[in-house]
Amino acid sequence: MVAAVPGIRADPLGFLARLRGRYGDVVAFPMPRDPVVLLSSPAAARRVLVENHRAWGKRTAQYGALSAVTGTGLLTSDGEVWRERRRTAQPAFHPRGLGVVAEQSVAAAGRLRATWPAAGGVVDVDAGALQATLEVVGRTLFGGEVTDDGERLVAAVLEALEVVVGRVRTPLPAWLPTPARRRLRRAVATLDVAAADVVARRRARGLHEDDGDLLALLLRAVDAGDLAPEGLRDELVTTVIAGHETVASALTWTLHLLAEEQGAQARVAEELDAVLGGADEDGGRAPAWADLRSLVRTRAAVEESLRLFPPAWVVSRRALVDDVVDGVALPAGTTVIISPWLLHRRPELFPDPEVFRPERFEGEGLGREARGAYTPFGAGPRLCIGRDFALVETTLVLAELLRGASVHPVPGERVRVDALVTMRPRDGLRLRLAPRRRA
Ligand code: HEM
Repeated sequence: MVAAVPGIRADPLGFLARLRGRYGDVVAFPMPRDPVVLLSSPAAARRVLVENHRAWGKRTAQYGALSAVTGTGLLTSDGEVWRERRRTAQPAFHPRGLGVVAEQSVAAAGRLRATWPAAGGVVDVDAGALQATLEVVGRTLFGGEVTDDGERLVAAVLEALEVVVGRVRTPLPAWLPTPARRRLRRAVATLDVAAADVVARRRARGLHEDDGDLLALLLRAVDAGDLAPEGLRDELVTTVIAGHETVASALTWTLHLLAEEQGAQARVAEELDAVLGGADEDGGRAPAWADLRSLVRTRAAVEESLRLFPPAWVVSRRALVDDVVDGVALPAGTTVIISPWLLHRRPELFPDPEVFRPERFEGEGLGREARGAYTPFGAGPRLCIGRDFALVETTLVLAELLRGASVHPVPGERVRVDALVTMRPRDGLRLRLAPRRRA
């Protein structure tokens, strides 16, 4: 089970698949210091993320690199800090807030659709998805419009992440003054200013007693002395990293898959016509919160896309104490890598794993074992806090976009996947739009 397969930098997804194919479900990388192990069985993932989660923390290279940007935010912190932060943030993600998420998602998608050429044409749907999801995060979690501050914050976060991703791939001694390190320092300084501006603007608008958005909750915690100002900054940055590009990625890949599979797209269109009263030109209406239950095929398309292209394609943990995982003894200090991308491709759980088949998620849905392996949002106590938020947002944005237009591949364009912090299409994703009429 010891592997030495080249190619992780050039093609990380192919690398993981080759490792698993060649060496099985528990593969140790030959590392000079603490061991690193790829775990690919659902039972192993469950052991680490759910059953024995207390034995596993987040002090890994992956989260260490992210925390150069996020500080001790919810995504990268551990122990008591994490518990306290999760308690503070949780009410902002309560199901009663999802109605607002729904409203803002449809509104953002409507604004995006208004920029699409009415007669059809080629557009970069990835750029549109990034803009729409930024607006939804800003208006729901930060309690207001995304202004220049918000845009600057996102740009600075993305710049800092780019440097960090480079650093994970080629770790350098910490003392070395490199251009990358200088760039990171500059990006983090810009980010600090932008985060402070977002906070100042929110304060200037005034905090009302019934404001339940994440930023309001965090500000109240700061005012009560329960959260340091740096903690507030860390959570803002974490929310941008965790809640913006991930959802944009889910949307973009769903549109890509539906463009490739016109049969699946026709099924979604049929549902949209039935629920929303026809394609736009026939006087259909925008989707709303109450329609979510009926948009079964639309949501299933999103879930199946999250199976094939899970934006968070790897998560990692480090053993705080010795543990036995899938029959293999792993000493304290071991880093494990768990890849939803691999778990979602197990043929015994997902027959024809490479085929985009949203029907897997309709009706009875996945069987018990496949449900356990389906982890686009992680599992256990560190399950994504924004899961329902993301599913509501992606489903409704997709419904609003596709009720008046169909999407098609652009002939001759090759779509390539970049697996960095999230799984993204390299150089965006251009699709051809066509106005849609009721069948
Ligand atoms: C955690 C995926 C959307 C905020 C996670 C984890 C995954 C994930 C896999 C667990 C990481 C681990 O166990 O190490 C996704 C995907 C999304 C999405 C695929 C969209 C399709 C969001 C949104 C937000 C968000 C919309 C907030 C607005 C967070 C936070 C955590 C987290 C704060 C850390 C939770 C904790 O450790 O307590 N996400 N996420 N995510 N996500 Fe998401």
